[in-house]
Amino acid sequence: MCGILGYVGPRQAAPLILDGLRRLEYRGYDSAGIAVVADSVEDRVIDVRKAKGKIERLAGILDREPLAGTVGIGHTRWATHGVPSDANAHPHTDASGRFVVVHNGIIENFHELKRSLLADGHVFTSETDTEVLAHLVAEEYDGNLVEAVRRAVRHAAGAYALVVMSAAEPERIVAVRKVSPLVVGLGDGETFLASDIPAVLQHTRDFLVIEDGELVVIDAAGATVELIGGGVVHRPVLHVDWDAEQAEKGGFEHFMLKEIYEQPAVVTETVSGRLEASGEVWLEGVGFDDAFAASIEHLWITACGTAYHAGLVGREIFSRLLRIPTSVEFAHEMRYADPLVTAPSLTVAISQSGETADTLAAARLARSRGSRLLALTNVVGSTLSREADDILYTRAGPEISVASTKAYSAMLVAQYLLALRIGRVRGVVDADLSERIGRGLHALPGQVEAVLGDEESVAKAAIQIADAQDVYFIGRGLDYAVAMEGSLKLKEISYLHSEAMPAGELKHGTLALVTKGTPVIVVLTQGAVYDKTMSAVQEVKARGATVLAVGYEDDSSIGSFADDVLRIPRTDDLLSPVTAIVPLQLLAYHVARLRGHDIDQPRNLAKSVTVE
Ligand code: G6P
Repeated sequence: MCGILGYVGPRQAAPLILDGLRRLEYRGYDSAGIAVVADSVEDRVIDVRKAKGKIERLAGILDREPLAGTVGIGHTRWATHGVPSDANAHPHTDASGRFVVVHNGIIENFHELKRSLLADGHVFTSETDTEVLAHLVAEEYDGNLVEAVRRAVRHAAGAYALVVMSAAEPERIVAVRKVSPLVVGLGDGETFLASDIPAVLQHTRDFLVIEDGELVVIDAAGATVELIGGGVVHRPVLHVDWDAEQAEKGGFEHFMLKEIYEQPAVVTETVSGRLEASGEVWLEGVGFDDAFAASIEHLWITACGTAYHAGLVGREIFSRLLRIPTSVEFAHEMRYADPLVTAPSLTVAISQSGETADTLAAARLARSRGSRLLALTNVVGSTLSREADDILYTRAGPEISVASTKAYSAMLVAQYLLALRIGRVRGVVDADLSERIGRGLHALPGQVEAVLGDEESVAKAAIQIADAQDVYFIGRGLDYAVAMEGSLKLKEISYLHSEAMPAGELKHGTLALVTKGTPVIVVLTQGAVYDKTMSAVQEVKARGATVLAVGYEDDSSIGSFADDVLRIPRTDDLLSPVTAIVPLQLLAYHVARLRGHDIDQPRNLAKSVTVE
């Protein structure tokens, strides 16, 4: 996730772009840069300023070395290919410096593209996938920038919002969108491009939302939208009335809801460039060799909070797919428990922030006992990532709501990829299985989108729960893992007492608390234990419980047992946690909203717990 901005008009571009980038900083903040077409010279050239670090560092550079010009593009980065550095910061230019690009997304086949450009004599100055696009546009240019961009992106596979500017045609900017978001802001004699509406909302309230597969050309007079393949598109103008606070949250009432809705994009990004159609997996920061993967005798997962719940799903994935004994430990327990960690083992430390004190301590302990350490984290350059042998980045982008949602989904997806990578080497995941799971992973964004499309049903179900005293979540296997996270979400923000337990455990104690009207939420996606879980549903029904189920849309039995059902699309049972958690996140959100709580900053909790 990165933020991009473009401007053509009468005003000085650099200060205006810098201001817009500050509003996009939530999308990434490890480096930033701006390019403008210099307006002071005859033969127009492009000047670039860029720097590692927060946008304020770039602002300092611009104070000392200002950029003069009224056409420009800018970028704030969340590293995927190449560490945060001055060289890897966007914008990127071709060797001549006459073509400049900023990009949000991932070019999946950039290795092949780079190899062939290198063979043709192109010289690269960064480790990014983006730089190949600047070279490709230059290579394709024969006097028409729009056509050059069209031809260049034909070579590129993956997801991108790409913005291109050239000294050869300095009055306009060309952009294309495939998956990653892009909007055009229409001003009076000036036009903007941005990753989202709030970035330029102080300049205009009229927008064109660019759709997947479209190309847009902006100049001071306005914008023309076309299909990438050719053909004009007539896009109606969207007039936006948001106030400043709504704008910051992208039109959503809370960051949590915004982040829940970002999950389809986050799943796409976390998979992007890592999984071939054949099921082959390429994980850029995971450096262990096949011999090590084959030698692993024990997998340890350590984490806290939501990341721990992602680890519970991970344990099922690794045990089922790899048949390697897998332990998942709360980091705060593991660090003092004298765990039986020995080599050859792999410890996966999961942490959104990469800074949780307990997780760091448990990870260090495991490593000191001979385990190889893999950091599964969302933050590039975090302490955990710096200390680990291998790094698997989720690509959820910055998460602002204390209650974690999109980071959790990304952690799940990353663990499927890791399991495929290890499983292929060990011969336990064959090509067919890998291809099947690969297909399932690629389908997930659309399926999560479908669940989000039915938020209204969840909002209705929330009304039934909002006044409860206690709520119980049950499930088996992966459904139990999801139930744990659903319960945590509910208690974090609604302050309602809730507990999750394996469905079979209910009768050993908690059943005593179930009386008429007690809400019991059951997650029911695992075919292998479906009937068994259903027995537990009968047990609570017999005590008068009100049962809310999360189940597949084609499950025809569930409706006769549950009082209400939140439906999710049918997936491979192994992948269902990614979709099944979504209605539970929305449920927690709506219950908290009905109860009038501060959703993004719940009482007593912190986003990142960096002390013991
Ligand atoms: C805090 C947050 C949780 C998070 C946990 C672990 O308690 O409120 O949402 O799951 O820390 O954080 P980490 O950054 O290590 O994933």
